[in-house]
Amino acid sequence: MSEPRNRRALPGDPAPYFDVHVFACVNERPENHPRGSCKARGAIPLRNYMKARADELGIPGIRVNQSGCLDRCELGPVLVIYPEGIWYAPRTHDDIDEILDVHLIQGGRVERLMLQPEQKLPAAD
Ligand code: FES
Repeated sequence: MSEPRNRRALPGDPAPYFDVHVFACVNERPENHPRGSCKARGAIPLRNYMKARADELGIPGIRVNQSGCLDRCELGPVLVIYPEGIWYAPRTHDDIDEILDVHLIQGGRVERLMLQPEQKLPAAD
């Protein structure tokens, strides 16, 4: 059995204000930067769609935040969901819908979009 994800929690800590945080990178770099950027790959419309759909679906205790660079630029657009610490690389609204439904509503995982810790480059299509 694996350890609980939140290994830093201490007895007596206040309850979390949100149960789940989604951090979606919307960072922009200068054109032709060797690492590219999530914004250049369409991150802002995807994040805005995710936030709007999460609100429409009324998923409780969730916050969909835009973030600065998460240092996985080559894989962008990327997002990470805490406290699980699961990373995804969505490309379309359908991908976002699947993450919302499977991960955030049902509590499952969208394995086809999930990034592994050692992954540095996008998977070949
Ligand atoms: S620009 Fe998005 S992870 Fe760096």
